[in-house]
Amino acid sequence: MSAVLLLNGPNLGILGRREPEIYGTDTLADIEAAVAEEVKVRGWDVLSVQHDSEGELVSALHRHSDMTVGALVNPGALMIAGWSLRDALASYAPPWIEVHLSNVWAREQFRHESVIAPLASGVVVGLGSYGYRLGARALMHLAAPDA
Ligand code: DQA
Repeated sequence: MSAVLLLNGPNLGILGRREPEIYGTDTLADIEAAVAEEVKVRGWDVLSVQHDSEGELVSALHRHSDMTVGALVNPGALMIAGWSLRDALASYAPPWIEVHLSNVWAREQFRHESVIAPLASGVVVGLGSYGYRLGARALMHLAAPDA
């Protein structure tokens, strides 16, 4: 079965109890379920990977690049200087969407640039966990526009 890679970076494993006024109350499990619900119309599965360290995320991309049809990537703070994550994504051939729960543009200056964004097919910011659903829909469109 085809699968979407749901890749979440540092501090995203504690969603639900992490600064809920910024990131909302949905947990990562809630987000996994929401993405699964979206992509099941295509018969796709969700392969969810969350790590707090950059190297693990890079390894996950290497490991799963051949078996996934696309990815939703929330790099967390690695958006700022995650150069090895950026290089791993450069080698990831399927389409992928960058997702941020919060509106990074409305926050501190250091969150205003993402080193991975120039490589993404698209970016969803500021819509909370709903952004992952939107990203999943965009991915279905990009991966198989006529299906
Ligand atoms: C985030 C935004 C990042 O700036 C922050 O470091 C995160 C979460 C978001 O989803 O809004 O960890 O990626």
